[in-house]
Amino acid sequence: MSKITAAITAVGGYLPEFVLSNQVLETMVDTNDEWITTRTGIKERRILKEEGKGTSFLAIKAAENLIQKSGLDPKEIDLVIVATATPDMKAASTAAYTATQIGAINAFSYDLEAACSSFLFGMSTAAAYIESGRYKKILLIGADKNSSFINYKDRATCIIFGDGAGAVLFEPNNEGLGLQDELLRSNGEGREFLRAQYGGSSYPITADTFNEGSHYVFQDGKTVFKNAVFNMADVSERILKRNNLTNDDIQWLAAHQANKRIIDATANRINLEQEKVMMNIQKYGNTTSATLPLLLHDYESQLKKGDNIIFAAFGGGFTWGSIYFKWAYNS
Ligand code: UT7
Repeated sequence: MSKITAAITAVGGYLPEFVLSNQVLETMVDTNDEWITTRTGIKERRILKEEGKGTSFLAIKAAENLIQKSGLDPKEIDLVIVATATPDMKAASTAAYTATQIGAINAFSYDLEAACSSFLFGMSTAAAYIESGRYKKILLIGADKNSSFINYKDRATCIIFGDGAGAVLFEPNNEGLGLQDELLRSNGEGREFLRAQYGGSSYPITADTFNEGSHYVFQDGKTVFKNAVFNMADVSERILKRNNLTNDDIQWLAAHQANKRIIDATANRINLEQEKVMMNIQKYGNTTSATLPLLLHDYESQLKKGDNIIFAAFGGGFTWGSIYFKWAYNS
């Protein structure tokens, strides 16, 4: 009997309507369009403005888009995973709320958190369940409302992040398509360089820390940048080598959209031409867990059955990795 592989069979996405452009940021902090564009590649990002709406709102919209496009019956979904670094609330699962709202009444669900690598690690989790034969339909959603923990007075972070969500459906495949190989890593020494220190269990928010703004995300950009460039390029190169692939065998690079210079460095390391590099950072900024599924959402019409895709991500923790994947359908 041929081995069951885990393929992506449908994609959906959602971006909130409000556009925060570089020009508007120029009026909020000491920055300018030229600096942001040349240092990051970002022109604008989307922000979820409505009060009381959190990450689940984005996740539900992305899932509904997938359901509507694919005709999937939500009652058939076995598992809903919401990959996110910004859950709606503490203690209550964002995925449980999302699953119920989309009508996935026969599914179990949970959140998966690995900062900007959440969706990449979620791909590994979803694929392992499918390959085991235990479940047949797994909805993996990457969603983040980053604006909920960004200080819009801190030019080092507010220019980078945006809100959004993307969803994919994993199903068994008997043609060998889907996830082929993965190389996933983490190093906890990285957490001091990218984190929201207060508001978690180590340091609950107090009136003083609130006034200091210590609950907002902090980033030592240079250190994170160096680690991201080295590690994302390193795992991508290694996964190619160990699968005997050259750049000619790869049709697409789907890399976490944190900074255009990091993506370019990864593409350069594996000698990939610009046309093969998926890019939407200019429109959405860094949407954390949503960058990879939103790339699939934006590029879906160009993907062909059998295309080889290298996924790569790097994020807080540190967490990082690369996945070699074969696309399963023409749209
Ligand atoms: O998704 C999770 C992983 N995250 C990442 O991968 C992000 C990694 N880091 C980065 O993308 C980059 O480090 C940043 C985009 C955050 C910053 O770019 P950089 O080239 O590393 O700039 P820098 O922090 O070294 O700052 C260079 C200069 C500084 O001025 P001086 O000291 O040279 O006079 C900063 O004060 O640019 C200044 N600067 C700004 N200027 C205008 C920093 N932020 C801004 C800004 N606008 N927004």
